Amino acid sequence: MKKIVISTKDNSYDVLIGKGIIKKLSKELNKRKLPSSLFVIIDKNVKHKYSDLLIELGVKTKSTFVLTANEKNKTYETLQRIHKRMIEAKLVRNSLVIAIGGGITGDVGGFAASTYMRGIKYVQIPTTLLAAVDSSVGGKTGINFNNTKNIIGSFHQPALVMIDTNFFNTLPKEEIICGTGELTKYAFTTSKVFSNYFIKNLSQIISLNTTVISKVIYESIKYKGDVVANDEKETGLRKVLNFGHTFAHAIEVEQNHKIKHGQAVVAGIACALHLSNKVGLLEYEQLHSFLNIVKPLKRYVNVSNYNRNKLFSVMERDKKNDDGEIKFVLIKDVGETVIDYQVSKKDVLHSIDKGLSYFVK
Ligand code: GLY
Repeated sequence: MKKIVISTKDNSYDVLIGKGIIKKLSKELNKRKLPSSLFVIIDKNVKHKYSDLLIELGVKTKSTFVLTANEKNKTYETLQRIHKRMIEAKLVRNSLVIAIGGGITGDVGGFAASTYMRGIKYVQIPTTLLAAVDSSVGGKTGINFNNTKNIIGSFHQPALVMIDTNFFNTLPKEEIICGTGELTKYAFTTSKVFSNYFIKNLSQIISLNTTVISKVIYESIKYKGDVVANDEKETGLRKVLNFGHTFAHAIEVEQNHKIKHGQAVVAGIACALHLSNKVGLLEYEQLHSFLNIVKPLKRYVNVSNYNRNKLFSVMERDKKNDDGEIKFVLIKDVGETVIDYQVSKKDVLHSIDKGLSYFVK
């Protein structure tokens, strides 16, 4: 089992990574003296596939909330239902929420914990590759509202993250691609060493080679942990982790969530690369060499007929904006990103058309 410690100003917690480590859940909770009054929020698909999971783990819960985890359900209404159940279960300040599932379960579960009694502790057990490499770590929690992704939320760091790579074995291919989408982000934002490893091992990632998967999770979380430690509340550096995401969130909304987040990130990165070239940060040859990192994934990502103006207006509502200006994370080279870059609407529309051209079939 590998361990990474994430340290922020007020918190320090472990991310544990390994095969079959979920069996140690009770032991790891006890070791950290985490509360024994438990409330589990579990993705409906995970509950279905691993029906006796909690019994097998010897976990006694006050109540278990089964979440139908999709973007349309990531709402106030769902949050209210969770809070109602938490009250019925008589959770107290010293209770613990355990979120078991993908990014949506982690985000909603974390937000429910962060808002119940002004914030109680929670543990993240990501069961998708996307949640493992990104959303389960760093304390971003939230829900969608007013057709805007994650616009209501909080920063609330988990008390522990346990990544059991065995969960990935039962994931549909689409989910592996979503995780690979977030890994593509790291391939551009971290280092040439990671980028080369990602390019060389892409097919092993998609086929879930154990050694390769553990390494990419470890390296991604290590990098993300350093970023979060330096800028927990995303005032600067952490914006790097949004590379491709301004486009991606707008694509998800414009496509009415028919495309999943990680797939939209792949398309969003292609748009961000074209935009970086359009504004002169990235040479033409470099653009094409970088697009070759994204293109092997294009057969897994479909964007239907899109409305570029609607896409643009969704971007205008993005929470990453400032003073009415859309701000982008752009790239000069691997590991050399530029944050808060302002561009003209014309350049954004150009990049949408160029970037999405690979994904419209
Ligand atoms: N998913 C980007 C972040 O956690 O900052």
